[in-house]
Amino acid sequence: MKFFVDTADINEIKELAATGLLDGVTTNPSLIAKSGKEFVPLIKEICDVVSGPVSAEVAATDYATMRKEAEVLRKIADHVAVKVPLTPDGLKVCKELSDDGTMVNVTLCFSPAQALLAAKAGAAFISPFVGRLDDISSDGLNLIQDICLIYQNYDFDTEILVASVRSPMHIIESAKMGAHVMTSPASVIKQLYKHPLTDSGLAAFVEDWKKTGQSIL
Ligand code: G3P
Repeated sequence: MKFFVDTADINEIKELAATGLLDGVTTNPSLIAKSGKEFVPLIKEICDVVSGPVSAEVAATDYATMRKEAEVLRKIADHVAVKVPLTPDGLKVCKELSDDGTMVNVTLCFSPAQALLAAKAGAAFISPFVGRLDDISSDGLNLIQDICLIYQNYDFDTEILVASVRSPMHIIESAKMGAHVMTSPASVIKQLYKHPLTDSGLAAFVEDWKKTGQSIL
């Protein structure tokens, strides 16, 4: 499973990139607003740090303006994935850019039918939002299961990018289903390292090692 971080905070991105475990970055207009930075130069800065796909979302909602914005975004770097909303206009832009060899991430997916449309439009990534479905008492992970099944049935190349991830459980359950990618806040990625038995086991090893009076170096 590829790990993307869902943030526009360049310091968080640099810190995670240094682990060697980061495969890409996703941003959205809300995250850009939170960063307080200029959008295009920020995406360029992120692209200089991370060599995997960096999602940059269009701001418009009509076809003509989204198409123009997509031109600006895809020129930033070859590994920019232009992010478009799951609307008829968004999927039209998706089809044209995909046919032209540009990666497209179709966002705001909340149903298997929407995911099927995005795959047919040639999306490189489909972003189903698990956390926001859970928030309305629906089962976000059920959506991942359905999309995995549909994509396998037709051997679509579109990668399932599990988004709106709120906990390690979302990641592990999606990985068990075979989702290709997950994007989450840095805080959730950091939680993956944690287990109380690791902490207590390490504390015991450190204490016992001291008793030997030895040094490896
Ligand atoms: O970037 C899309 C998605 O991951 C947003 O997550 O937490 O705002 O629902 P969230």
